[in-house]
Amino acid sequence: MTLETVASDSKAASMDISASIKPVDQSATGQEVVFSTRDLSVTYGSTLALAGVNLDIYKNRITAMIGPSGCGKSTFIRCLNRMNDLVPGVKVGGQVLYHGVDLYGSDADPVEVRRRIGMVFQRPNPFPKSIYDNVAFAPKKLGLSGNMDERVERALRGAALWDEVKDRLKRSALSLSGGQQQRLCIARAIAVEPDVILLDEPASALDPISTSAIEDLMHDLKTEYTLVIVTHNMQQAARVAEMTAFFSLDLHDDGTRNGILVEYAATDKIFTSPSDERTEGYVTGRFG
Ligand SMILES: Nc1ncnc2c1ncn2[C@@H]1O[C@H](COP(=O)(O)OP(=O)(O)OP(=O)(O)O)[C@@H](O)[C@H]1O
Ligand SMILES: [Mg+2]
Repeated sequence: MTLETVASDSKAASMDISASIKPVDQSATGQEVVFSTRDLSVTYGSTLALAGVNLDIYKNRITAMIGPSGCGKSTFIRCLNRMNDLVPGVKVGGQVLYHGVDLYGSDADPVEVRRRIGMVFQRPNPFPKSIYDNVAFAPKKLGLSGNMDERVERALRGAALWDEVKDRLKRSALSLSGGQQQRLCIARAIAVEPDVILLDEPASALDPISTSAIEDLMHDLKTEYTLVIVTHNMQQAARVAEMTAFFSLDLHDDGTRNGILVEYAATDKIFTSPSDERTEGYVTGRFG
């Protein structure tokens, strides 16, 4: 079983897996699991950044990661598409299962993984190319079939940007506003027909109107994709996410500290009746 056999359509993916390995993982609530991390840890050089993370991420849901600076939210999300592989000296322990397939297993191809699991960063980072070429770049490079104009239009529509740019597709992407550039980056992610989109603080550099546009867009996108978002903005997590994971720092007697997952539950529960006092301290603003 390799990632190659997991079709890009996630419905087909789950069928493939259930047919060839085992039934698709289901949570107690019957939701389909896309990622399941098992005792996940990350070390940079000799420094432990994140330890012991066990967490399931559900299909067609928005899952938010919150917690104080340095607790490992970006480190965690980068494990989900092997982006940490690019960091020299990184070591990932435990397991990340993606539709039941070990993402770090010898069968998994990191390039293929990053195609299925797209990523959008904090600062919009369009290429210094036209709007059209930004969206067409990855599909061309991957040799994806089909009409490119249609693919570009579909991705731009999916990112709620088409109407604003359809008359200037050949203009530089750098001529767009910050909010438009971020939606272009989302269009770029959509253009390769991923299964999952990871967003690391996608709106923190944007004004409130653009932030609201990105939040509306995430609501629309979750019908087709599974979204995982890191955010410092607790209102944003409460507005957009069904599930919320609270990460924090575990302090040791020798002065070292590492990130841990403190609590993971439905967003309502995290914000209104968390089980752990550290979560309560954070969401009520007493800590963090
Ligand atoms: N490329 C790297 N090389 C070495 N250490 C790193 C690297 N990236 C992160 N770290 C360390 O790992 C720990 C977790 O960092 P990470 O960026 O994941 O936290 P974060 O929760 O995303 O923080 P923030 O909210 O500030 O973005 C920190 O101690 C950080 O210094
Ligand atoms: Mg971060």
